[in-house]
Formats: sequence, C-alpha cells, structure tokens
Amino acid sequence: MNSKFLIIFIFFYIQESLSLASDDEMQAQFIVNDVSEEMKLRMFKTNTASWNHASNLTDENERINAKVQAEYAAYVKGVAQDLAVFDYNSFENKTLKRLVKFLTNIGDAKLSETDFNDIQDAVSRMQSTFAKVKVPEFKDRSKLVSLEPEITEAFAKSRNPEELKYYWIKWYDGAGLPNKKDFFKYVGLRNKAANMNGFKNGADTWLDEYEDPTFEKQIDDIMDQIKPLYMQLHGYVRHKLAEFYGPNVVDKTKAIPMHLLGNVWAQQWNIGNLVLPYKTEDPDIDSVLVKKNYTPLKMFQDSEQFFTSIGLSPMPSSFWEKSIIEKPNDGREMVCHASAWDFSINNDVRIKQCTRITFESYKTVHHEMGHIEYYLQYNHLPPVFRAGANPGFHEAVGDTIALSVATPKHMHRIGLLDEVNKDRKSQINQLLKMGIEKLPFLPFSYVFDKYRYEVFRGTVTSENANTLFWDMRKKHGGVAPPIERTNKDFDVTAKYHASADVEYLRYFVAFILQFQFHKASCIKAGEYEMNNPEKTLADCDIYQSKEAGDAIKKMLSLGSSVPWNDALEVITGDRQLDANALLEYFAPLYEWLKEENTKLNAHIGWDD
Ligand SMILES: *[C@@H]1O[C@H](CO)[C@@H](O)[C@H](O)[C@H]1NC(C)=O
Ligand SMILES: *[C@@H]1O[C@H](CO)[C@@H](O)[C@H](O)[C@H]1NC(C)=O
Ligand SMILES: [Zn+2]
Repeated sequence: MNSKFLIIFIFFYIQESLSLASDDEMQAQFIVNDVSEEMKLRMFKTNTASWNHASNLTDENERINAKVQAEYAAYVKGVAQDLAVFDYNSFENKTLKRLVKFLTNIGDAKLSETDFNDIQDAVSRMQSTFAKVKVPEFKDRSKLVSLEPEITEAFAKSRNPEELKYYWIKWYDGAGLPNKKDFFKYVGLRNKAANMNGFKNGADTWLDEYEDPTFEKQIDDIMDQIKPLYMQLHGYVRHKLAEFYGPNVVDKTKAIPMHLLGNVWAQQWNIGNLVLPYKTEDPDIDSVLVKKNYTPLKMFQDSEQFFTSIGLSPMPSSFWEKSIIEKPNDGREMVCHASAWDFSINNDVRIKQCTRITFESYKTVHHEMGHIEYYLQYNHLPPVFRAGANPGFHEAVGDTIALSVATPKHMHRIGLLDEVNKDRKSQINQLLKMGIEKLPFLPFSYVFDKYRYEVFRGTVTSENANTLFWDMRKKHGGVAPPIERTNKDFDVTAKYHASADVEYLRYFVAFILQFQFHKASCIKAGEYEMNNPEKTLADCDIYQSKEAGDAIKKMLSLGSSVPWNDALEVITGDRQLDANALLEYFAPLYEWLKEENTKLNAHIGWDD
C-alpha cells in the first residue's frame, strides 16, 4: 500500500468513527451485512441458470432460467423493501450510504411478478431469435449458415459487393423485424420499472449509472471533439473504396455503403488490405496466427501471460475447466456472442467465446479476460460493489491491454513478428489500422444508445423507428444501408445488444477511457513521453511493467465502491472523461490524413 493511500484511509476511519452512528444506521448495517452473504449464494444460482441457458439454448433451460431469475428478483425486492424505511442520506458512514442506495435501486425487480416475467420473456425471446438466425449460403442456397462464423467471415473477407449485400439483407431481415414486437414490449415495461424507481424513463435508468447529471452533455462534447479526425478518416476510406469498387458502387461524396466496411454493423472497419496507404513487408497477422498453429487455448494462454506479466492474477484452474472457448460441435444452439462471467463464489469465473483464429478474435480474448481480471481484483468487496466504477470501466480494461498487444513491438516480443519496421510507412499503416478499428466505433456506439434513449423517451415510435435509426447512423457516422430501408423493416435488433438488453454507451465510454488508461500506464511504464518520437503512445507496450500493473490493479480493486471519478483519479490523476489521450495517440495520423486527402482531392463529409 502506498503512503498516500494509507493517509486517506486513516483519515476516513477517524472521520467515520468519531461520530456515533444512529440506531437506524446500526440496524441498516446489520441488514446489509446479512444480505451480502446470502446474495453471493443466490447470484451463483442465477448465474448458473443463465450460463446453462446461454450455452445450450433449449426450451427447458429457458424455463429453468426464467424461474430462477424471478426468484432472485423477488429476493432483491424484499431486501429493497426492508431497507426502504431508512433515510440513507442521513447516514454518516459513506460506504454504508452507497450500499443502501444501490440495494434500493433495483431496476426491473421493482415490477409486479407478471410484468417482471413479461419483460424477461420478451428479452429472452429476442436473444434466442437472434442466436438462431440461419440464412442460405450465397453460393450454395441449399446450405444454411449462421452469423458466427460464416457471415462474420464473409464480411471480413469477401470483396464481392453482391455477396455482401445479400448477407446484409438476409441478416437484418432475420434478426430485425421478427424482434420488433418484443422490443417495444420490453421498452414499455422498462419505462414502467424506471418510473417505479423514481426515474422519468429507461434512458434515465441507464444514464444514472454514470452518476453525473451532465454526463449526456459530456458525451455530446466528446463527439464534437473527435469529429474533425473522424471526418478525415471517413473521407480517405471512402475515396479508397470508390477507387476499388468504382463509382457505381461507391459515390465519392455520399454516405459509405456500410456492407463494404468489413463488419455486419460497420462498427469497426475490417478492411485494412483495401485502404492501407503503403505496400510494406509487414505480414498479415491473421495468416501468421494460422501459420504458427495458434489454437483458441494458445490465445487464452497468451492473454493470461500478459496480465500476469504486469502483476495481475492468473486465471483460477476452474476457469480453464469451465470456460467454453470454442463453438461446440455437438449440434446444440448457443449464444456465440463473447462474454465473461462472474459466478460470485469460489473464484468461479468463466468466458464463453466462439474463438476464431484471427487477430480480431485474439483481441477479443484480451477484452474478455480484462473483465475476468476486474472480477478477481474486486472479489473482496460486498456483491453490490462488484461492478465497474461505471459500466465503461469494465469494458475498457482488456481493450487497454490490447492496445499494447497490437503494437509491432509487442508482437515481435512474443514471436508473432520476426522484425519491427520502424519506418514512417509502417507506422502510418499501423495507425491507420488502429484508426479504422477505433474511430468509426465512436459514432456507432454514440448513435446506438442515443437512438434507444429516444425510443425510451417516446420520440422514436413503432411507426418511425427504422428510418430514424438510419438517419442517425448517417448523420453521425456517414454510413448507409446497401438498399433503402423503410419503416416496414426494423433493424436495430439485428445487433446483439439491442436484442439482449445491453446498455451500449459503456462501449463508447470505454473507447475514450482506454486511451486515458493507456496513456497513464505508458507513462508509468516509462514507455511514453510527449513529443518524443522514440516513445509514442502508438508504440507503447506495458508488457512486464509492474508499475503500470499496480496502478491498474488499484483502480480495479475499488470496484464500484466509490464514484468513478475517484477510480479514474487513482490511475490517471484526472477526474473527467477526456478525448485528448485518444487525439494524442492519433495525432500523426490526423496530420497525414489531412495532407493525403488534399493530395487525393478526396471529398470530406457526406451529402444527402
Ligand atoms: C442441453 O440441455 C438439455 C436440457 O434441456 C440437456 O439434456 C443436454 O444434456 C444439454 N446439453 C449439453 C451439451 O449440456
Ligand atoms: C461503514 O460501512 C461499511 C459497509 O457496511 C462497513 O464495512 C464499515 O466497517 C463501516 N465503517 C465504520 C467506520 O463503521
Ligand atoms: Zn465486454
């Protein structure tokens, strides 16, 4: 423990023990202690039922899961009722105050039993429809294929616009409209729960997790801040695509047809080989992974090795026994969308991922293992504090590590690259690869929840839902569907997180935070100095740095026991979300793009 910490700790201790706790406060303390133990056991039970269902989508598992979730909700509701008699704002003990506040803000569990079952059923049906979509293969229509791996791979690899358009339409038709009715049912019930918890609507329930009434405004400001960089990247990529596909497929001044961007949702652009400006000797990492006989297990072992190298925890042995790291080949249906799980007792933590041997999947492994590290670092806390400082923190941990992993320096260290090219051409290629991965995601994730806020707020209705969705995607991201979509279609649920009721702003926040974390840990690792071309953020690898690891560990071990600004301060010294670290990382790319776009006479922006 460093001395600054010790002093704060003593100060708090004295401050809190000087004032005599009221009777009420002592009573609440008693209930809260009791609840913690019981809650852990119950969480184990509910998470087990969810896991059994998500990894094996049968009607029986769905029924069992629904029953167990309802039992848990009833329990949580009971706890909240017991604690509702206290005015926690008057409590002296800040930790207790926060615990009671969290325990009485219970979301959907506040609903009546019927409503609770209805919202669960609606989400469960959407999730299951999404997971089971099968479409006829492009080449052989008698064969059926799924999102993972076939459609995902087609988007990443195919350069045939007809094939991409075909899969785009089949996928959105399959996972979209069939979920519309349930989506609006879920929205209505979520708003009802929000009202019962004292919020205006479901948007406020989600925003409340960021514990700052100005948070939505801060996010708007960050979008404005990154817009000039994004527009340069967008203009450059569109120009290259127009050169490749010709003017009949890509118009040089309009929104980019999204099916050409390498990803079903065009959220990250997986088309490096089409847009990299320079031909270099740098090998393609996907083929290196295959050539080196990488397996899913080897990918997970590499990731664990990175975390332990900076002093974080190894995976417990049960992790290796119980995780599912490959798509099972026994005919069962499963939710392939990668996820990390905390079973709350016995250090039981697991990942479920249909891992593919690609660099994208390799980075996802680090992302998921970042969640597991968070679970392990905060497992000494009471269950309600076992969460990210805000939802974005949880999503940023593994991505921060992946920023180091993706540097040529690191790939050379672990034998994925034979040599590191330090010339300017390789550096610009590398930054552009990162640029198309990180920057398009900002308008994508921003719109994804801004849109759902408007649904919760009632400005988006069942009648205008689809055209408004695409209007927003176009306005902020400059992308458009391959064919005209109308309000007879419904496309938002063709993305997992809309079908599965997962708040999405967390990813936007994480994409900003990860650069703040990266910068702070790179400074601690002695790997970054501003304006030193030998020590740039894009080239920083925190591998084996205990100094960086210690700071990350300190932040993780706080869980959600303090407001996120405090947790952020522990690692970065800042208390605000701030896009400057991201802009610093990409500064050389921004300069290069401006010059290049002028040279190419590339159009910037998109006309309607
Ligand atoms: C899937 O769940 C069913 C129960 O619905 C069970 O009989 C079956 O053994 C499970 N399959 C696997 C592979 O766990
Ligand atoms: C404040 O409450 C927390 C949570 O119940 C408890 O662990 C801690 O001991 C309390 N602090 C004091 C000084 O009583
Ligand atoms: Zn995640």
